[in-house]
Amino acid sequence: MKPKVFITRELPGKAIELISEYYEVEVWREYYPPPKDVIIRKIKDLDALASLLTDRIDSEVLGNASKLRIIAQYAVGYDNIDIEECTKRGIYVTNTPGVLTEAVADLTWALLLAVARRIVEADNFVRSGAWERTRTGWHPLMMLGVDVHGKTLGIIGLGRIGSAVARRAKCFNMRILYYDIERKIELERELGVQYVDLDSLLKNSDFISIHVPLTKATYHLIGERELKLMKPSAYLINTSRGAVIDEKALIKALENKWIAGAALDVFEIEPTPKNNPLLKFPNIVVAPHIGSASRETREKMALMVAENLIKFAKGEIPPNLVNKNVVKIRSPGFT
Ligand code: GLV
Ligand code: GLV
Repeated sequence: MKPKVFITRELPGKAIELISEYYEVEVWREYYPPPKDVIIRKIKDLDALASLLTDRIDSEVLGNASKLRIIAQYAVGYDNIDIEECTKRGIYVTNTPGVLTEAVADLTWALLLAVARRIVEADNFVRSGAWERTRTGWHPLMMLGVDVHGKTLGIIGLGRIGSAVARRAKCFNMRILYYDIERKIELERELGVQYVDLDSLLKNSDFISIHVPLTKATYHLIGERELKLMKPSAYLINTSRGAVIDEKALIKALENKWIAGAALDVFEIEPTPKNNPLLKFPNIVVAPHIGSASRETREKMALMVAENLIKFAKGEIPPNLVNKNVVKIRSPGFT
């Protein structure tokens, strides 16, 4: 009998077909995530789970997962999963790193450029008829933003995505600062980026872009103190996880003009409610967590989930194993 996998949402491309060769597959067909009690009920009988970042896999869920051997996360981030608990229980956890790096870097630049040059405001200006009402095709003071080229970019977290953002910044002739928990001497040479401590980065950057995973250490990494250190002319861009920024502090920063604006693809609560006070500021650009949302990238991510599940079913260590220590607790496979 094939092992059972529950896939918590439909995936693009051929991935589910491939997985079906090795697993008995059940897919959650709704657009919204399966409620926690549904996951808890199902997980008792599951050998494998393909999860999304919207599925909270905590100790309560794992407490019911007596047969579960692998969780294949369809994302690079896995802060929704209690990894330590998985390792203890001998559950392999995999993610989808690498394939989404360039797509997230592209979106980061889309947001950075959009907030600097007021693209969303400008679009609305045209569509709403406000432009027509000015009876002015071109005005020296119309919709003035700020230059991006030649400015200083501060990158918080110089991993795969942070580096891809830096590569793009070089073409914009920017000075690039970075802060990371470890110095990356090789990358400094390759990308021409300069290591600084977090406070110096905050004080000296015109644009700050966040590329760290959400962990206990990065939760609310950017709070009131940090926002106050930023230049009043600086912009904050976040395509990582919402909770890396203290959203209440960001609202305060925008209200008091401690910073010039922000561009956010991620929020502390997703979907962010319509009445989130952040949304009343014209100088922010927002997106609904679409960093990796290109058709090609999402298909590659799905194939990676399939590969991790299939390798595991064959008794091999899956290529994108997150909790490497689990190997000491249990061998891969279902036998
Ligand atoms: C998306 O946010 C991901 O972690 O892949
Ligand atoms: C702007 O359209 C210019 O010609 O400078």
